Parts: sequence; C-alpha cells; structure tokens
Amino acid sequence: MTSKREPIHGQWSGRLAFILAATGSAVGLGNIWKFPYITGENGGGAFVLVYLACIAIIGIPIMMAEVMLGRRGRRSPINTMRFLLVEEQASPHWQWLGWTGVIAGFLILSYYSVIAGWALAYVFRTGSGMLTGLTADGVQSIFDDLVGDPERLLAWHTLFMIMTMTVVARGVRSGLEQAVRFMMPTLFALLLLLVGYAWNSGYFEQGMNFMFHTDFSKISTNGVLTAMGHAFFTLSLGMGAIMVYGSYLPDRVSIAKVSIVVALMDTLVALLAGMAIFPIVFANGLEPGSGPGLIFQTLPIAFGHMPYGALFGMLFFLLLVFAAWTSSISLIEPAVAWLVENHGMTRVFAAMLAGSVTWLLGLLTVFSFNNWSEVKLLSAIPVFRDSTIFDLLDYLTANIMLPLGGLLVAVFAARTMSRESSVEELNMGDRFFYPLWRFLTRYITPVAVVIVFLHATGILIVFLRAIGIL
Ligand code: PHE
Repeated sequence: MTSKREPIHGQWSGRLAFILAATGSAVGLGNIWKFPYITGENGGGAFVLVYLACIAIIGIPIMMAEVMLGRRGRRSPINTMRFLLVEEQASPHWQWLGWTGVIAGFLILSYYSVIAGWALAYVFRTGSGMLTGLTADGVQSIFDDLVGDPERLLAWHTLFMIMTMTVVARGVRSGLEQAVRFMMPTLFALLLLLVGYAWNSGYFEQGMNFMFHTDFSKISTNGVLTAMGHAFFTLSLGMGAIMVYGSYLPDRVSIAKVSIVVALMDTLVALLAGMAIFPIVFANGLEPGSGPGLIFQTLPIAFGHMPYGALFGMLFFLLLVFAAWTSSISLIEPAVAWLVENHGMTRVFAAMLAGSVTWLLGLLTVFSFNNWSEVKLLSAIPVFRDSTIFDLLDYLTANIMLPLGGLLVAVFAARTMSRESSVEELNMGDRFFYPLWRFLTRYITPVAVVIVFLHATGILIVFLRAIGIL
C-alpha cells in the first residue's frame, strides 16, 4: 500500500539540508559539555566503549526508524503516530508515544537552556579578557560566581529562550540551514585547535589513556545506563526531534545514508571534545569527575594561556551557543508543529507559548545550582542521594524517557508496522542492509535497552541470583 502524504510545514531542500539540520540537532551541549563530564564521572575508557557500542547498535538503527516514521507520517510526532497507527491498524495507545516525546522535549529544554546560558555568559567572559592568564583556581571561582547567582543565570536563560523562540517562530528552515553550514566546519576547526593545545600540554597521553583504556571495574551498572541514555540524548533520539525533522525529508533521500553520516559527525565531535579536555584536566591537577562545570573550569585555562586566547575563547563559546541553539529548536519543534496543526495557532504564537512553558520549568534548574542546591528530593534512594533537581531532571529524561521512547519507536517500526511499509520507506533493497536493520531493531535494540534497564534498577541481579546464575 502506498499512502504518500504531502508535508504541510514545507520540506528540506534536499539531502544535504537534512543532514545539516539533523546534525545541528544532534551536535550540541551533549557532545561538548555533557559527554566529557559524564565520561569523567564514570571512570573513562569503559564508559566510552559502552557509549560507542550503543551508538552503533542501538542509536543508528533507531535513528533510521525515527526518520522513517516521520517521513511516512509527515506531521508532528503526535499526529504522525495517530496517522500511522490507523494505517497500520495498531492500538490507539501508540499515540502516547508522541505525547511523551513532547513532554520529554519540554523537560530537556528547560535545563538545556540554562546550561546554554552559561555558554552565552562565557562568550563575554572570555572575550573581555577576564579569564586571560588565570590559574585553575581563578577560573574555578569565576565559574562558582556565575552559577551561585540565580539572577544572572535567569537572565542568560531568558536570553537563550528568546533566541530559541525567535528561530522557531520564523520556521526552522529559513536561516537554519545557513547557520549550520557555517557553524559545523568552524566548530571542527576550533576543536582541532584545542586538541592541538592539549597535545602540547604534556598530558595528552594521560588524557587519551583515561578515555580509551578500557577497565570495566571502573564502570558501575548505573554508568552503563548513563552511557546508553547518552547515546539517545546525543543523537536527539526518543523524543520526536529526529522524527519531526524526518517529516520534512524529501521522498527520494536514502534514510540509511543520512542517518549514518549524522551519527558519525556527532560521535567525532564528542571524541574531539574529550581529547581536548582531559589532557587539560590532568595538566592542571583537576578532577575529571567534577561534574557539569567541567568544560567551564578547564577550557578557559587553555584559552587563557594561548596567543589570541581571548579571541579564540570567545569564538569557541559562541560556536557552542550556536550548537546548542540548533539543538534547542529541535527540542520544541514537535510541540510547536502540533500546536500549529491541531489548534490553528500561528507559528509565532505557538513558539511563544511553548517557549514560555519551558522558560518557567527552567527555573527549577536555575535554582538547583544555588538557593536549592541542598534540595535533594529523592535522597532516600541510594543512587539519588546527592541528586539536585537538575540531576533528577537529567536522569529522568536522558536515562529513562529517551531510551523508553527509543525502545517504543523500534518496536513500532520493526514489529507493529508492516514489512511492506518499512521496505518501501527505507528503500535500501532487500538484500543485506534491510534485513540487518530489521534484525537489529526487532531483536538487538529492544533486548539491549531492556537489559540495561533491568540491570540499572537491580532487577536483573535479583533474577539471576534467583535462578542460580550468580
Ligand atoms: N542532541 C542534543 C545534544 O547533544 C540534545 C537533544 C536531545 C536535542 C534530544 C534534541 C533532542 O546536545
């Protein structure tokens, strides 16, 4: 059955435009801010290996599945799921998949915007020369001053949300393609410059060792869950961002090829960020597991000691803001597209509404770093003993909601949807690649996600003990 639908929000101009936009969504704070600090917190090498394995065997197949569902449905994720469940005669409950994605998007953007606000603040701090020549302690105290002041965080968060709403209101496609086209190569170049600095720091080997020496005794069960969750987060999977971008993809483009390119670029940026940061961490006697402030406490040291450091530093944080910006718009696009489709709102109004809700939720994160830093809502549960509200939001979204959303996407695409539909939409022949994709999404992906969940919640251990394996 061919049931091609016409897109109503417009389309990308072609393959390259989609690759740029999807890479813009994928490459963001996740690669440059989050990947290094969670690698540091989870002991290095083994964590990186689990993360890379998750990208390859879970991330890429699910990305293909999400793009495919989006392109077939050609609407916001909520309406895409509604349409597809009718077409495939599936249970009406599948529409919840669209809804949970929208909620995850709001929750993620609420803290994402606050962290992007830090990057904005650092554009000015590095550019003005305030960080030039400082020691590790000096850099640390500048960071502490920033996050300790709720008013300043609120101002930057507000500015970033306004930036996000402005682009979303204008329609994702105008201007965005151009921005990403210029941004990606420059970001690569600056990361390479930083890796070059790290190379000369005398600690490059130690940094590489930390990232690539695999010692499985250093990773906890929760670390494995974090690595898997991060694979979803960094590829923007499990909440509809890639699905909504897929809904603007022209029919003839190969979904497999574009998905692989996007995943490779995303991984490359994350690895380069790690290679730049860890040598600087060791060269300055810093702690790799020091948490969300890691890049703000390390990179300014490097910029502060290199020629034209203020200029390069400013440019780097500016690009980080751009990277975050092209991701943040994809986080609320599913909600905005739905408001336009179902409530007849203009894009401008829908963007303002969705943005205001997110802004308000962002206050939880703003206060997590200062006034409420001692509020530990789930301290009764051992893994959450020290978790602030920000930590809980991050855990809930990245480690639970996204993998669960991704799991359901895999189940729908490879089990509920008919083989004919997916063969037609993926269009990669019936020989090797289609069966491989189907095998991965039918068996490997769901089983891997479920095992990691059971493992992290301790249920697996109890079960294995019960049947005498452990
Ligand atoms: N992938 C983005 C990043 O790495 C974050 C993101 C998650 C964007 C989920 C959209 C959806 O920064």
